[in-house]
Amino acid sequence: MAESLFVDKSLTLDEQYENLLKQLKSLLVKEDNLLSNFSNFVAAIKQTFTKISWVGFYFLDGDHLYLGPFQGKISCTNIALGKGVCGKSVKDKKTIIVPDVSKFEGHIACDSDTKSEIVVPVFKEKEVFAVLDIDSLEYNSFDETDAKHLGNMCNFLSTFISNNTTKIL
Ligand code: SME
Repeated sequence: MAESLFVDKSLTLDEQYENLLKQLKSLLVKEDNLLSNFSNFVAAIKQTFTKISWVGFYFLDGDHLYLGPFQGKISCTNIALGKGVCGKSVKDKKTIIVPDVSKFEGHIACDSDTKSEIVVPVFKEKEVFAVLDIDSLEYNSFDETDAKHLGNMCNFLSTFISNNTTKIL
């Protein structure tokens, strides 16, 4: 069945995120496959915001994060726990906004053109399951508004992963 995403760039940032979350909710409930839902999730974010150069998930397995569904250039496949912005987000169980990646000690530059970044953890029953990583080629692309809405979106995803009927494949 054909699916389409309605994107209105004349809306405020808050409204664009609200519009996106509403559509993601109705899209994701139609499918119980985790990889399919995570894939459409990143594609919908990339389609909505032109400021984004790369968006994807890293899944936590043991003491490493592994590259999952993403949109953008090919990327680092694994990140040790505590390393980079992604590894720190897992360790601290918190969203991290990086206005200038050159000022973040230990930043991992998968794309040397990246200037700013935001990483949001996704939880499964209070433990980190994955992180959502979003990059931009401009400085200061993400702020507390992005953090709030991306946090809401990832909380919605958490309900899927915490649901026993969700299938990996
Ligand atoms: N910059 C990230 C690594 C992942 S890439 O940006 C896609 C980090 O420092 O963890």
